[in-house]
Formats: sequence, C-alpha cells, structure tokens
Amino acid sequence: MKKTIAIITGGYSGESVISYKTAATIEKNIDTEKWISYTIDISPAGWFYTTPAGEKTTVDKNDFSITIDGKKINFDAVLVGMHGTPGEDGKLQGYFDCLNIPYTSCDAASSALTFNKRYTVAVAAFAGMHVAKSLHLFKNIAISATDILKELKLPVFVKPNNGGSSIGMSKVNDGADLQHALDKAFKEDEQVLVEEFIKGREFTIGVFKTKGQIISLPITEILTKKDFFDYEAKYNGASEEVTPAVIDESIAEKVRQAAKKAYAVFNCKGIVRIDFIYNEAASNPYMLEINTVPGQTDASIVPQQVRALGWTLKDFYSALIEECFYK
Ligand SMILES: Nc1ncnc2c1ncn2[C@@H]1O[C@H](COP(=O)(O)OP(=O)(O)O)[C@@H](O)[C@H]1O
Ligand SMILES: [Mg+2]
Repeated sequence: MKKTIAIITGGYSGESVISYKTAATIEKNIDTEKWISYTIDISPAGWFYTTPAGEKTTVDKNDFSITIDGKKINFDAVLVGMHGTPGEDGKLQGYFDCLNIPYTSCDAASSALTFNKRYTVAVAAFAGMHVAKSLHLFKNIAISATDILKELKLPVFVKPNNGGSSIGMSKVNDGADLQHALDKAFKEDEQVLVEEFIKGREFTIGVFKTKGQIISLPITEILTKKDFFDYEAKYNGASEEVTPAVIDESIAEKVRQAAKKAYAVFNCKGIVRIDFIYNEAASNPYMLEINTVPGQTDASIVPQQVRALGWTLKDFYSALIEECFYK
C-alpha cells in the first residue's frame, strides 16, 4: 500500500516566501507511484490543507490529521519543506516526536542546535573542525564596540544569531561602522554573532543519508559580485553558483570530508547544506553554518547538486522519505 506523506511548508518567519517555493519543487517531484502526498500550510493564519477545489481544511493538531469529505487522513511521515521557525528550529520536530510521526529532517535537538549559529560553531570546534573566531552577544548584556574590537580583528561579520537568508547581516571593515551593524542585527534577533572574516573561496555542499549511509553531493562554489553572499546576491541574482565547483581534487576532498564529519557530529538526518570558506593559508575549509532545511526552489543549490550527481529529484525525494522508515 502507498504511504501517505504530509509536505509541510510556510512557517512563521519572513522565510515563508521561500518555503512555498521549496514545497512547490518537492510537490512537483514526488513519485506518485510510490507516495500519496498532501501539502500542509503551517502559518500564523492557521494549519491548513487546501483541496484541489480550493477548499481549506484545518489540521487537527491532536494527531496531525486532516478530514476530507468526512474521511480522516493520518500521515505515515512528514517531509519538511519549511525554512525558519517552527520547521527548521526543532519545534515541529518535537511535536512530531510526541505524536510518533517520522519526518525527513534532523531531530529536534540537532535542528535547535544548528539553528543557533554560535552553538553550531562551538560544537564544530569541539569536534576539531575549523571555524572563525567569534563573540556571542545578548541584547540585555551591554558590550561596547570598543571591547569587541579588542577581541576580534577587522573585518568582522555581524549576524543575527538565529537568522537566515543573510537578513540583518553586515560586513564591517571599519570599526566606526560596528555599532550601526550591531543595532541592525539586534533588530532581527535578541542574540548576535560577531565573527572574524575568513578570507577565501566560498563553497556550499549538500549532504544526505540514504540506507544509513552519509552521501555528499557535488560541491557548489559561490561567486558573488557583492561584498558577500547577502540577501540580494542570494535571491536577486547578484551571484553566480558553479555546480560542480571547478577546484583541485585535494580541496574538494577536504570540503567533502569536513561536510560528512559535520553531518555525523551533529547527528543530521535528511538533506542539509553546509557553508564553508576555504582558506588557502590554513589549507582548510572553515565551517560557517549548517542549513538543516536548505532552499529547494527550482533554481536552488541543492536541486542543482542533485542533478549534478546524476539523480532525478524524484528519486532524491523518494530516498529522503524512505530514509524516515529506515531502521
Ligand atoms: N566569517 C565569515 N567570513 C567570510 N564570509 C562570511 C563569514 N560569515 C558569513 N560570510 C558570508 O556571508 C554569507 C551569509 O552568512 P551565513 O553565516 O551563511 O548566514 P545565512 O544564514 O544568512 O546564510 C556567507 O554565505 C558568506 O558569503
Ligand atoms: Mg548561509
């Protein structure tokens, strides 16, 4: 019998716009010979399934079921197509754990940990990975720009600690601009990460697990016309993504090994995408962050990498769903 899958999308943050595009790619590439899928929109307006006729059905949160034409539908698994809270930070993962419904993403603890950029680099460093030197700031504990500059060398990146999509982020080259960058980041988040700039080429790499085995996708190099991979570079085309990256095999291997190590250390599940800067002087990749629900719009990096591996997206999503049931 075909299993019934809920594709969850939307979310409560500004990233919901991207979530809908990700879910559209997933929906289009679900193998309907293997799975029956329903897309569930989880937004501040409510949790809904919309029938092809345009009728909205509210999800019963007691068991995450929907009822269509008097027939109750329960889900065998959840495919996560939601960026930002509550689908990428562990909140829904905890809810599905309570209901005993398997899902395609990292578990609640790994999702929550990796959603926090500072805790991510702290754990990575503990595992011996290279990360940038940084300071973790909290809104209610004042620290002056002068004190920050005593600890960290310019240029620095100032980022909302729990953000995504480069929103509220700045690169600061001149100490006089630091306070403004801090104010901007604190508008987005109660916690801010100030991180030393790592010089080098930027790579990002998808990693997933199938039949219990960790597999890395072909690497993408990010070439941006902007100062860094900011929101405009990401979504308005001011960057070029080269998949597979044109790099020496020795560099590629270091990036792949670091990515697979991170996947194992953070006990990841499903498809994640890990950002690195390869620093020539250190001959090592520096890990910036782990995206546990990476963008999967048609043009996004993960779909590019899946195609570069020679897989169809259909087989890829089937593999992700099958992995939920893999013991
Ligand atoms: N420490 C750093 N050194 C060099 N570049 C960085 C650093 N931190 C961030 N960047 C640049 O900023 C971009 C966004 O940062 P990232 O930490 O990946 O946050 P986001 O969640 O917004 O993608 C990166 O893709 C990279 O171009
Ligand atoms: Mg990133």
